[in-house]
Amino acid sequence: MRDDNVKSAGAGAAAAAISRGEAPQAESEELIRRRRFLQAGVGVGIALTVGGISILSVTSSLHPIEKATPETEPPAPGDKLVFADEQTHVLVPSDLQIGAAPQMVYPMDPKTKVVKGGTANNLALVGRFDPANLSADTKPHAAGGIVAYSAICTHLGCTVSLWDPKEEWMHCPCHHARFDPRNDAKVMEGPAPRPLPVLPLNMDGNDVVVAAGFLSPTGPQ
Ligand code: FES
Repeated sequence: MRDDNVKSAGAGAAAAAISRGEAPQAESEELIRRRRFLQAGVGVGIALTVGGISILSVTSSLHPIEKATPETEPPAPGDKLVFADEQTHVLVPSDLQIGAAPQMVYPMDPKTKVVKGGTANNLALVGRFDPANLSADTKPHAAGGIVAYSAICTHLGCTVSLWDPKEEWMHCPCHHARFDPRNDAKVMEGPAPRPLPVLPLNMDGNDVVVAAGFLSPTGPQ
């Protein structure tokens, strides 16, 4: 079981705002567009809890050009999942507590062992819930209560990096869109125009594996 109470060394502006008891300030659309253009990979994803809100990812590594490489291939059926901040750690169900903050993961080709972390478009949030609490739409895409979604906000492309443990909603820090992971990541609040894309999962022995690629395009359209 991973320790989700580990404190991160690098909380960003959103974390600082939350620690002061303020809502994180919305970024300008121009800044977000520029970051989205530059962002090819998201780095450390250690969970940090501040004022009841968990920060799921705290840093972004910026790369000016995103080239087509094995690391930027999209998720494919049979891919395993590895933690974004610990890419040698293959996800198993016991890594996830029911109802806890989702974890940032990348797909990994099980044959070549290539981690597909060369693009933020492959970054996913994976969480575990009581299967009885999943919606009828969500159950077919889940593996024993484990669900996965793109971590890139469908509004302007920020990383959905916060977790509201009270509502059990994923929360984008930029303009406060909130998504329900028990119901196909539908938009519960905020300006996001559509849900976070679903990454269907299956079980392969004790491993959680990708059942199919994202069911809709990732990021803003
Ligand atoms: Fe605007 Fe996520 S980028 S709410």
